[in-house]
Amino acid sequence: MQQVRKAIFPVGGLGTRFLPATKALPKEMLTVVDKPLIQYAVEEAADAGIEEFIFVTGRNKSAIEDHFDHSVELEATLAAKGKTQALDMVQQMMRNPGSVIYVRQQEPAGLGHAVWCARHLAQSEPVAVLLADDLILGTGCLGEMISAYNGGNMVAVMDVPQNETASYGIVTPGADDGRIVEVNGLVEKPSPKDAPSNIAVVGRYIIEPGVFTHLDRQEQGAGGEIQLTDSLARQIGEVPFSGLRFSGERFDCGSKIGFLQANIAFALQRDELGQHLKSWLTERVK
Ligand code: UTP
Repeated sequence: MQQVRKAIFPVGGLGTRFLPATKALPKEMLTVVDKPLIQYAVEEAADAGIEEFIFVTGRNKSAIEDHFDHSVELEATLAAKGKTQALDMVQQMMRNPGSVIYVRQQEPAGLGHAVWCARHLAQSEPVAVLLADDLILGTGCLGEMISAYNGGNMVAVMDVPQNETASYGIVTPGADDGRIVEVNGLVEKPSPKDAPSNIAVVGRYIIEPGVFTHLDRQEQGAGGEIQLTDSLARQIGEVPFSGLRFSGERFDCGSKIGFLQANIAFALQRDELGQHLKSWLTERVK
């Protein structure tokens, strides 16, 4: 079985739920405490052993490219002022030269379309897809997936309350050992009464090359967008398909409430902020 060496980061969306913040600023550059969402995703991928980082960007997304490049002036200033900790931090963020690739999605036609835009870079290997707005606190989700990966397609899944199924891709489950569930079907955003289960897909995927053949058809799905889950669903029966219940805690940073919760949860874990924030919050909600 081939190793998972490449990851696609689709960052071409418009982020309309965060307007006006996202009018000129990419949603993926919104910070949780002091780090942009996209950096959490890139670090998770690097920790999982990913060697090639493929960003599918769009208009107004150049801040992401700048973020992962040297800032010569900043580094010179930090060095001159002896701010070695800050200097180390910005230098350690850099990936190996040539390992970061940008491809442009000319129109935000959906997640499936964004992934399809990277088809020539993915070539004939399994590739990871990470959505930066699904932020995971705790053990790296992609690392857990890669350890459990046995070929075919794999998605990260979590059990959600039945009344929330309309916000997710929902799995029709087969064999389920409590951690790994066989995926026999996928329905995008079903109403609670039509949902085949309460097992929801979150933004981590390992996709095998055959997915691109289905994405080539450019068929629109829910919301008039080209959905990645539709192409994965079409491969059921052709290749193995599993869901992994990851052990971390997921925050939906594409929504305001999830983003606020993530900021609080991540800050509470920080040595220099946690206690202070906890006392303040306790007073505040009295
Ligand atoms: P979302 O479904 O959250 O869409 O995308 P969005 O446009 O970013 O945000 P809203 O709903 O308008 O607020 C999930 C991920 O897929 C990427 C987004 O950048 C985000 O990381 N995406 C989405 C693309 O790269 N291209 C697309 O056409 C759509």
